Amino acid sequence: MTDNSIPSLNISVLHGPNLNLLGQREPGIYGVLTLAAINAQLMADGAELGVNLTCFQSNHEGELVDQIQGGLNTVDGFVINAGAYTHTSVAIRDAIAAVQIPTVEVHLSNIYRREEFRHHSYIAPVVIGQISGFGAMSYRLGLKAIVAHLRG
Ligand code: DQA
Repeated sequence: MTDNSIPSLNISVLHGPNLNLLGQREPGIYGVLTLAAINAQLMADGAELGVNLTCFQSNHEGELVDQIQGGLNTVDGFVINAGAYTHTSVAIRDAIAAVQIPTVEVHLSNIYRREEFRHHSYIAPVVIGQISGFGAMSYRLGLKAIVAHLRG
């Protein structure tokens, strides 16, 4: 029996710069799936998990900050791949810290096996956890992780 009194979770997946080019962008590193294919898989996973899912991509730091702030009172959890902003953006980190909405950080590639400048994440200290190196599966694992975290 379904308990309709329990509202389903609202999960927002945020993709940062250059992830709109997935499929054609350095496929040896990021894989051959397009962002649309990844989002479609996540929507299917979200339906199976019984959560409401939205996906958003931007190449602009401020737009990602706006999405995070806009989650106040509407979003229960974020899954974020901030792309290169991971390694540069105090603003995205501060936005996550400000809204206090549980967040899982994901990366397609294993950022610790790559160039030194990718080893540091400004976001890592303000998120629940990080999943890095499993290709598109990183997003799917990130979604499962945030839902498991929110459901306690
Ligand atoms: C990335 C890793 C970042 O270093 C890079 O700038 C990206 C993608 C990943 O998903 O592996 O754009 O976040």
